[in-house]
Amino acid sequence: MLVAPSILSADFGNLANEVKAICEAGCDLVHVDVMDGHFVPNLTIGPVVVSAVAKATTKPLDIHLMVENNSFFVDLFAPLKPGYISFHIEEEKHPHRLIQKIRSLGIKPALTLNPHTPPEAIEFLLGDIDMVLLMSVNPGFGGQKFIPSVIERAKRLKALIKKHNPSCLIEIDGGVNDQNLNQLREAGVDIVVAGSYVFGHQAGYKAAIDSLK
Ligand code: DX5
Ligand code: ZN
Repeated sequence: MLVAPSILSADFGNLANEVKAICEAGCDLVHVDVMDGHFVPNLTIGPVVVSAVAKATTKPLDIHLMVENNSFFVDLFAPLKPGYISFHIEEEKHPHRLIQKIRSLGIKPALTLNPHTPPEAIEFLLGDIDMVLLMSVNPGFGGQKFIPSVIERAKRLKALIKKHNPSCLIEIDGGVNDQNLNQLREAGVDIVVAGSYVFGHQAGYKAAIDSLK
Protein backbone atom coordinates (compact mmCIF):
# COMPACT_ATOMS: atom_id res chain seq x y z
CA MET A 1 0.00 0.00 0.00
CA LEU A 2 1.31 3.45 -0.92
CA VAL A 3 0.77 6.17 1.70
CA ALA A 4 0.08 9.85 1.04
CA PRO A 5 -0.08 11.86 4.28
CA SER A 6 -2.42 14.86 4.01
CA ILE A 7 -0.63 17.98 5.26
CA LEU A 8 -4.01 19.45 6.22
CA SER A 9 -3.37 17.92 9.67
CA ALA A 10 0.26 19.12 9.87
CA ASP A 11 1.49 21.98 12.07
CA PHE A 12 1.32 24.89 9.60
CA GLY A 13 3.59 26.96 11.83
CA ASN A 14 6.31 24.41 11.12
CA LEU A 15 5.27 23.28 7.67
CA ALA A 16 8.62 22.76 5.90
CA ASN A 17 9.90 20.58 8.75
CA GLU A 18 6.63 18.62 8.85
CA VAL A 19 6.97 17.87 5.13
CA LYS A 20 10.61 16.82 5.54
CA ALA A 21 9.62 14.59 8.47
CA ILE A 22 6.91 12.67 6.58
CA CYS A 23 9.28 12.20 3.63
CA GLU A 24 11.99 10.85 5.94
CA ALA A 25 9.37 8.64 7.60
CA GLY A 26 8.83 6.88 4.26
CA CYS A 27 5.70 8.35 2.69
CA ASP A 28 5.20 7.86 -1.05
CA LEU A 29 3.37 11.07 -1.98
CA VAL A 30 2.62 14.33 -0.16
CA HIS A 31 -1.13 15.04 -0.35
CA VAL A 32 -2.02 18.73 -0.61
CA ASP A 33 -5.68 19.77 -0.08
CA VAL A 34 -6.58 22.93 -1.97
CA MET A 35 -9.98 24.34 -0.92
CA ASP A 36 -11.51 27.57 -2.23
CA GLY A 37 -14.35 28.27 0.23
CA HIS A 38 -16.90 27.75 -2.59
CA PHE A 39 -16.84 24.13 -3.72
CA VAL A 40 -16.27 23.16 -0.08
CA PRO A 41 -17.02 25.12 3.12
CA ASN A 42 -13.35 25.57 3.99
CA LEU A 43 -10.39 27.56 2.68
CA THR A 44 -6.82 26.29 2.71
CA ILE A 45 -3.67 27.10 0.78
CA GLY A 46 -2.60 28.45 -2.58
CA PRO A 47 0.61 28.39 -4.63
CA VAL A 48 2.55 30.70 -2.28
CA VAL A 49 2.39 28.20 0.58
CA VAL A 50 2.51 25.13 -1.66
CA SER A 51 5.75 26.41 -3.23
CA ALA A 52 7.32 26.14 0.26
CA VAL A 53 5.99 22.57 0.44
CA ALA A 54 7.42 21.83 -3.01
CA LYS A 55 10.86 23.04 -1.85
CA ALA A 56 10.77 20.89 1.30
CA THR A 57 9.50 17.64 -0.23
CA THR A 58 11.57 14.78 -1.63
CA LYS A 59 8.38 12.96 -2.75
CA PRO A 60 5.95 13.90 -5.53
CA LEU A 61 3.13 16.27 -4.61
CA ASP A 62 -0.41 14.93 -4.94
CA ILE A 63 -2.56 18.04 -5.33
CA HIS A 64 -6.26 17.49 -4.56
CA LEU A 65 -8.30 20.40 -5.91
CA MET A 66 -11.58 21.13 -4.11
CA VAL A 67 -12.43 24.26 -6.04
CA GLU A 68 -14.94 25.69 -8.51
CA ASN A 69 -12.62 26.92 -11.25
CA ASN A 70 -10.42 23.89 -11.86
CA SER A 71 -8.60 25.12 -14.96
CA PHE A 72 -7.56 28.36 -13.23
CA PHE A 73 -6.11 26.41 -10.29
CA VAL A 74 -4.30 23.98 -12.61
CA ASP A 75 -2.51 27.00 -14.12
CA LEU A 76 -1.59 28.25 -10.64
CA PHE A 77 -0.07 24.97 -9.47
CA ALA A 78 1.48 23.63 -12.70
CA PRO A 79 4.76 25.61 -12.27
CA LEU A 80 5.37 23.69 -9.01
CA LYS A 81 5.62 20.45 -11.05
CA PRO A 82 3.39 18.25 -8.87
CA GLY A 83 3.27 14.50 -9.55
CA TYR A 84 -0.54 14.45 -9.72
CA ILE A 85 -3.36 16.97 -9.92
CA SER A 86 -6.84 15.63 -9.20
CA PHE A 87 -10.08 17.50 -9.66
CA HIS A 88 -13.68 16.69 -8.73
CA ILE A 89 -15.85 15.28 -11.52
CA GLU A 90 -18.89 16.92 -9.84
CA GLU A 91 -17.42 20.36 -10.51
CA GLU A 92 -16.19 20.14 -14.09
CA LYS A 93 -18.21 20.59 -17.28
CA HIS A 94 -15.34 19.53 -19.56
CA PRO A 95 -13.35 16.89 -17.69
CA HIS A 96 -11.90 15.30 -20.83
CA ARG A 97 -10.49 18.63 -21.98
CA LEU A 98 -9.02 19.42 -18.56
CA ILE A 99 -7.40 15.96 -18.34
CA GLN A 100 -5.61 16.62 -21.66
CA LYS A 101 -4.49 20.02 -20.41
CA ILE A 102 -3.03 18.59 -17.18
CA ARG A 103 -1.16 15.92 -19.13
CA SER A 104 0.17 18.45 -21.62
CA LEU A 105 1.73 20.28 -18.66
CA GLY A 106 3.70 17.13 -17.74
CA ILE A 107 1.51 16.27 -14.74
CA LYS A 108 -0.40 13.03 -14.14
CA PRO A 109 -4.15 13.72 -14.32
CA ALA A 110 -6.50 12.21 -11.72
CA LEU A 111 -10.24 12.41 -11.08
CA THR A 112 -11.88 12.68 -7.66
CA LEU A 113 -15.34 11.32 -6.82
CA ASN A 114 -17.45 12.50 -3.88
CA PRO A 115 -19.11 9.85 -1.66
CA HIS A 116 -22.34 9.89 -3.72
CA THR A 117 -20.73 9.56 -7.16
CA PRO A 118 -20.68 6.06 -8.67
CA PRO A 119 -17.49 4.93 -10.46
CA GLU A 120 -19.54 4.35 -13.63
CA ALA A 121 -19.76 8.16 -13.95
CA ILE A 122 -16.14 8.23 -15.15
CA GLU A 123 -16.04 4.94 -17.07
CA PHE A 124 -15.21 6.62 -20.39
CA LEU A 125 -12.49 8.81 -18.87
CA LEU A 126 -10.56 5.97 -17.24
CA GLY A 127 -8.41 5.44 -20.32
CA ASP A 128 -7.09 9.00 -20.07
CA ILE A 129 -6.13 9.25 -16.39
CA ASP A 130 -3.47 7.84 -14.06
CA MET A 131 -5.42 7.75 -10.81
CA VAL A 132 -8.92 7.91 -9.34
CA LEU A 133 -9.37 9.45 -5.90
CA LEU A 134 -12.44 8.10 -4.12
CA MET A 135 -13.61 10.27 -1.22
CA SER A 136 -14.48 8.30 1.90
CA VAL A 137 -15.67 11.48 3.66
CA ASN A 138 -17.36 14.64 2.42
CA PRO A 139 -14.53 16.90 1.27
CA GLY A 140 -13.66 19.94 3.35
CA PHE A 141 -12.17 18.84 6.65
CA GLY A 142 -9.71 16.42 8.19
CA GLY A 143 -10.61 14.11 11.07
CA GLN A 144 -14.04 12.96 9.80
CA LYS A 145 -15.57 9.51 10.07
CA PHE A 146 -14.95 6.98 7.29
CA ILE A 147 -18.01 6.31 5.05
CA PRO A 148 -18.01 2.49 4.49
CA SER A 149 -19.83 2.52 1.13
CA VAL A 150 -16.50 3.52 -0.43
CA ILE A 151 -15.52 -0.17 -0.25
CA GLU A 152 -18.27 -1.16 -2.70
CA ARG A 153 -17.34 1.79 -4.92
CA ALA A 154 -13.66 0.76 -4.89
CA LYS A 155 -14.57 -2.81 -5.94
CA ARG A 156 -16.74 -1.58 -8.80
CA LEU A 157 -14.06 0.88 -9.85
CA LYS A 158 -11.40 -1.84 -9.82
CA ALA A 159 -13.48 -3.92 -12.26
CA LEU A 160 -13.85 -0.94 -14.60
CA ILE A 161 -10.13 -0.17 -14.37
CA LYS A 162 -9.27 -3.78 -15.30
CA LYS A 163 -11.40 -3.37 -18.42
CA HIS A 164 -10.27 0.10 -19.53
CA ASN A 165 -6.84 0.95 -18.07
CA PRO A 166 -5.18 -1.58 -15.73
CA SER A 167 -2.36 0.80 -14.81
CA CYS A 168 -4.73 3.42 -13.35
CA LEU A 169 -4.35 3.63 -9.55
CA ILE A 170 -7.09 3.87 -6.90
CA GLU A 171 -6.56 6.30 -4.03
CA ILE A 172 -8.86 6.69 -1.00
CA ASP A 173 -9.16 9.88 1.04
CA GLY A 174 -10.85 10.43 4.39
CA GLY A 175 -11.00 8.68 7.74
CA VAL A 176 -8.33 6.12 6.82
CA ASN A 177 -6.65 4.32 9.73
CA ASP A 178 -5.18 0.93 10.64
CA GLN A 179 -8.70 -0.42 11.31
CA ASN A 180 -10.14 0.03 7.80
CA LEU A 181 -6.89 -0.48 5.92
CA ASN A 182 -7.28 -4.21 5.25
CA GLN A 183 -10.75 -3.81 3.77
CA LEU A 184 -9.35 -1.14 1.46
CA ARG A 185 -6.47 -3.34 0.36
CA GLU A 186 -8.83 -6.24 -0.35
CA ALA A 187 -11.02 -3.92 -2.43
CA GLY A 188 -8.05 -3.14 -4.69
CA VAL A 189 -6.96 0.23 -3.32
CA ASP A 190 -3.37 1.24 -4.22
CA ILE A 191 -2.85 4.48 -2.25
CA VAL A 192 -4.31 5.75 1.02
CA VAL A 193 -4.42 9.41 2.03
CA ALA A 194 -4.18 9.83 5.79
CA GLY A 195 -4.15 13.14 7.65
CA SER A 196 -5.19 12.96 11.28
CA TYR A 197 -4.06 9.33 11.58
CA VAL A 198 -0.45 10.09 10.53
CA PHE A 199 -0.01 13.52 12.12
CA GLY A 200 -1.82 12.52 15.32
CA HIS A 201 -0.14 9.13 15.84
CA GLN A 202 1.26 8.67 19.35
CA ALA A 203 4.26 6.66 18.18
CA GLY A 204 5.30 9.14 15.47
CA TYR A 205 5.07 9.48 11.71
CA LYS A 206 7.20 6.47 10.81
CA ALA A 207 5.15 4.11 12.99
CA ALA A 208 1.94 5.52 11.50
CA ILE A 209 3.11 5.16 7.89
CA ASP A 210 4.57 1.68 8.53
CA SER A 211 1.28 0.52 10.08
CA LEU A 212 -0.57 1.49 6.88
CA LYS A 213 1.98 -0.10 4.60
C1 DX5 B 1 -10.72 16.22 3.17
C2 DX5 B 1 -9.34 16.05 2.59
C3 DX5 B 1 -8.54 15.00 3.19
C4 DX5 B 1 -8.26 15.13 4.66
C5 DX5 B 1 -8.10 13.74 5.19
O1 DX5 B 1 -11.43 17.07 2.36
O2 DX5 B 1 -9.44 15.79 1.21
O3 DX5 B 1 -7.32 14.81 2.47
O4 DX5 B 1 -7.12 15.87 4.97
O5 DX5 B 1 -7.99 13.81 6.57
P1 DX5 B 1 -8.26 12.54 7.50
O6 DX5 B 1 -7.26 11.49 7.10
O7 DX5 B 1 -8.00 13.10 8.87
O8 DX5 B 1 -9.66 12.12 7.29
ZN1 ZN C 1 -7.61 15.28 0.11
